[in-house]
This record gives sequence, C-alpha cells and structure tokens, in this order.
Amino acid sequence: MSDSQFISAKTALTGLIGWPVSHSVSPVMHNAAFAARGLDWRYLPLPVDPARPDAVGDAVRGMRALGLRGINVTVPHKQAVLPFLDHVEAAAQAMRAVNTIVVEADGSLGGDNTDAPGFIADLRDHGVEPSGMHGLVLGAGGSARAIVYGLAQAGAHRLTIANRSVERAASLLADLRPFLGALPVDVVTLPDGITSVAASAELIVNCTSLGMTPHAETTPWPPDLPLRPRQIVYDLVYNPAETRLLRQAQAGGARAIGGLGMLIWQGALAFTRWTGEPAPVEVMRAAAEAHLRGQQASPAPAAPSPVQVRRATVEDAATIARLHHALQAHHAAALPDFFKAPSASTFPAAKVKELLQKPATVMLLAEVGGVAAGYLYADTTPAQETSMTHRLERLWIHHVGVEPHWRRQGVGGALIEAAKRVAGVEHIRTVGLNVWAFNEGALRFFARHGFAPYNHRLWLHLTPPPA
Ligand SMILES: NC(=O)c1ccc[n+]([C@@H]2O[C@H](COP(=O)([O-])OP(=O)(O)OC[C@H]3O[C@@H](n4cnc5c(N)ncnc54)[C@H](OP(=O)(O)O)[C@@H]3O)[C@@H](O)[C@H]2O)c1
Repeated sequence: MSDSQFISAKTALTGLIGWPVSHSVSPVMHNAAFAARGLDWRYLPLPVDPARPDAVGDAVRGMRALGLRGINVTVPHKQAVLPFLDHVEAAAQAMRAVNTIVVEADGSLGGDNTDAPGFIADLRDHGVEPSGMHGLVLGAGGSARAIVYGLAQAGAHRLTIANRSVERAASLLADLRPFLGALPVDVVTLPDGITSVAASAELIVNCTSLGMTPHAETTPWPPDLPLRPRQIVYDLVYNPAETRLLRQAQAGGARAIGGLGMLIWQGALAFTRWTGEPAPVEVMRAAAEAHLRGQQASPAPAAPSPVQVRRATVEDAATIARLHHALQAHHAAALPDFFKAPSASTFPAAKVKELLQKPATVMLLAEVGGVAAGYLYADTTPAQETSMTHRLERLWIHHVGVEPHWRRQGVGGALIEAAKRVAGVEHIRTVGLNVWAFNEGALRFFARHGFAPYNHRLWLHLTPPPA
C-alpha cells in the first residue's frame, strides 16, 4: 500500500455486522493488522438494525454486489445469517452460529466460526491444555455454544453447563449432543447447581454477560463459594480487563485469565481466512489493548500482584535450569529452524550454581503462591559497546524466562521491575538486553517497561553457493 490513508476503488473491504457495533474493538484491531502487513484492506463497523425487515439477508447478499471480501458477524445476527450462505463449515453448523463470512474466489459465501478455535488458541497461548479437564461452563448463550464445542473438540474429559435458565442449557446440549461423541455433559442451574461441581471443575469459563461494563460489579460466581489454587478461571468478558470474577479467582489462589486473548485470536483466524496470510497477532493485541484503555473513563485500579520476586540462591539452581529449559523448548517449538531444542547441557544447574557464586551475577526468581514461575539472569559487569564509547556501568539482562503456564500474568513485568530496582540500589543507571527483531511481542513488552531500541544488531546469513 503506497499511502496508508488513501482509499481507492481497489481497496479491499471487510467489516462487522451486528447491532450495536459502535463499541466494537474489531475495527481498530483489524485495521492495525492490515496496516502492519502492508495490505490495502479496510475493516468497517456496519450496523445492521434487526428491526428492519430483511436487513440481515440484504446485508449478506449485498456483500457480493459491493465486492466485500468478508465480514465478521456479531450479536444478534450470528444465527440469522445462516440461511443466506452457500456453504457453512461443520463447526459453525454444529454451533448454529457464524461469526466470519468469506466471499470466496468463485463469489460463493462461506460461513465459519472462529470463536471456538480462538478460545482454544488463547488457552494454549496461556500454557493451558484443556484435554482431559473437567470444564464448568457458566452460561448457555451464543458464546457458551462455542466454548462447549471447542472444549469437546480439544478433548475435555467432562463438561458441566450451568445457566440461570436451565432450559436454555438443556437446549444447547440437545443441539450440540450429536457433535460431542461420548463426552459426559451435565446441565445445572446457575448459581445453585454449581455448588456440587465447583470443587472438581479444573477449568471454569464464564460465558454469561455478568461482570461486563457497565455492570462491572456483577459476577456469576457466588461470593461464598471458594475458588482454589490449581483451578483456572477464564472470563470471556474483556471489558473491564479485570472482572470481579477474576478478582474472586485470584483471591482464592486460582489462575485468572481474561477474555481479550480470545477476541484477538478469533479476529486473527478471520484475518487469515480472508487474506490467506498469517495474522500479526501482537499488533492486533496492542491495538485492542490501547483501544480498550482509551474507552475506560478512569483507569482500572491495579490488581495486587500475586507475583513475588526474590534474589535466587544456590538452592534455586535446579529450578532455574528447569525454567530455562522450558523457555528454550518454547522457542524451539515456535521457530524450530532457528532455535535449538534444549538438551541436558543447556544452562544446567551446575552452570547456574557457578554463576550464582559470581558477585556480578543478578539472578532473580519469580514465584506465584510459592511456585516458581519465572527467572531473570543478568550481570553488572561494566562493558564497552564499541571503541568509540565509554565503559558503561550497566545491568545486562541475558535471560528472562517465564514458565509457559504463567505467561501474561505479570511475571515477566515483575522480574523486569525487580531488575530495575537492583540496578537502582547498585547506582547503575542503564539496563540493557538484546531482543530478536522478529519477536514483536517481546519488543512491545520491553517498550511497555520503558526500554527503547539502542544499537540494534542485524545479521546477514549467507547461503553457501550450490555445489
Ligand atoms: N472474549 C471474546 O472473544 C468473546 C466472544 C463472545 C462473547 N464474549 C462475551 O461473553 C459474554 C456472553 O456473550 P453471549 O454472546 O454468549 O451472550 P448471550 O447469547 O446474550 O448470552 C448471555 C448469557 O448470560 C446469561 N445472563 C445474562 N444476564 C444474567 C443474569 N443477570 N444472571 C445470570 N445469567 C445471566 C444468560 O443467561 P439466560 O440464558 O438465563 O438469560 C446467558 O447464558 C458477553 O459479555 C460477551 O461480550 C466474549
């Protein structure tokens, strides 16, 4: 795209139909993604009033006439669009809900649902594998259908669906039953029926609208019912970022995950469906977060961080070696052609022990509820960047590793802030590190913590000439 502001007859158009759509995060998220990929594409909010006769059919059929490339569909039209599509993916058929429409090359209209895979992708992004888990799904509306279907597909071991109107939960189950195989699923009332399953559920997912702005004080979870460590509470609500339910989870020591990641992943999957290109997920996340921050009338109070950071001792050497192993395995899984899989000689405990005995080493361990969640390894040896520069007192960070299970929980941030404090105490005014230029997520993370690019290193890899 030559000029990012310019829209021409060649600009490919996508958008969102729903009612209302004015508060949707999707336009900023997708437009940022198109710009980041250099695509001459735009995403428009397209309010379609359900009270207008034939509005949904006119909108869907109009896509073809207007040359739109695809649209997202939100409440209340996810089901209403179905009769106007030429073909619908099996998952969307099962859920009886379409959130993504693609105008295929032959002009046919294809319907898909990226909510279920988006949810599962975000769970895995947080290091949570739902396979084998007992899931408790709160709610039986449109999103609950996607979550029940997604958890079943991902291999959940048992599901309980709890809804205020138990008939609606039963009807959800009746619709989805043919797609759930032999998975045991029971239906209970919300909130009374959840008492008996609350303790055995390993993954609790809020699919009700309780807790959502402007009703941020509401929660589907009874205040006197405990949530426990080792339970995972996922709230589909993403505005506010920290819901009352997530605070209840944290208070009980459970893992708390908000719904923004699912929103981003369902959008990322739609982006790929339309453009055929991988989505710039971190760009989409940053745009969505910035938009939601701007929407909040006043900044949400910071949650008390459950992360504790302390200086590591030689007793922690094996733990740190294990955390490093997990970090390297994570990189190797993401980029196998570039990163080596860890081996026994990768940063072994003996090496960590040796480093811990050096006075210049700064080794920090982050714990959540006493469980090791991440580490940071740095040193304070002064160094000279080039022959033209002064020898610099600096704290140089070699590794920051966060256990995949604890990603996006503030562990990395707590480690960086602790490293800054160590530097402050030692009167060192520069903290530095190298970040791979392709690691957009890390670059944004460090930018959020005040780091600016400095002396980027670029490499040229030459391929040997053919023999
Ligand atoms: N993160 C994401 O990407 C994502 C994606 C989709 C949806 N969401 C969020 O998920 C939430 C639900 O969306 P949806 O499309 O499933 O909505 P929906 O189809 O309207 O369903 C709403 C659900 O909330 C329940 N509910 C509403 N008010 C209640 C109350 N006062 N007490 C108890 N239950 C109540 C309803 O129970 P009844 O059946 O008894 O009325 C129903 O189960 C919304 O906050 C939405 O923003 C997030």
